Amino acid sequence: MTIQRLSQDHTKAIHRVEESCFQSPWSENTIEALLKSDNAQCFGCFENDTLVGYIALEWVLDEGSLTNLAVLPSYRRRGIAEKLTEALLEEAIKKDLQFVTLEVRVSNTPASNLYRKMGFDEVGVRKGYYSNPREDALLMTKYLA
Ligand SMILES: CC(C)(COP(=O)(O)OP(=O)(O)OC[C@H]1O[C@@H](n2cnc3c(N)ncnc32)[C@H](O)[C@@H]1OP(=O)(O)O)[C@@H](O)C(=O)NCCC(=O)NCCS
Repeated sequence: MTIQRLSQDHTKAIHRVEESCFQSPWSENTIEALLKSDNAQCFGCFENDTLVGYIALEWVLDEGSLTNLAVLPSYRRRGIAEKLTEALLEEAIKKDLQFVTLEVRVSNTPASNLYRKMGFDEVGVRKGYYSNPREDALLMTKYLA
């Protein structure tokens, strides 16, 4: 199992992970734009040559966002998301970001537990933030300084 930086070559592989993990997966175009952006970095977890999970960091000036994280269902509960989050936080520190923020569905206990374990604090709720199905988002932040 290795954690690597992702490039545009990984667009289709990320899309496959998205389709396996979300009801409204990001399109290949959205993923390609993310991978091309000068203000984003994605990391992937590979088992042999297969991408089994990925995470996306985006930033504006010194403010970071964890904009997506997914691990294929059959690879969960092995610490992969934790390793991906560590890679993202190391990158955020290297880039001198002040904090990393994220939104998560209030019902998504696996993800919110993970984020709490990784040092993110609940700082608010965004009412009706998600659609399909409509749901509130928990806003979580980790300060790095
Ligand atoms: C959330 C997700 C990324 C976790 O991936 P994972 O590789 O299984 O997580 P890890 O094995 O690294 O688990 C780390 C911690 O997360 C929490 N966690 C993970 N899965 C959990 C579950 N099913 N129930 C409760 N807590 C869970 C625990 O705190 C765990 O630490 P522990 O093992 O010491 O209890 C994965 O379930 C997933 O891809 N879900 C669908 C996509 C998604 O919801 N992404 C987040 C969008 S905001």
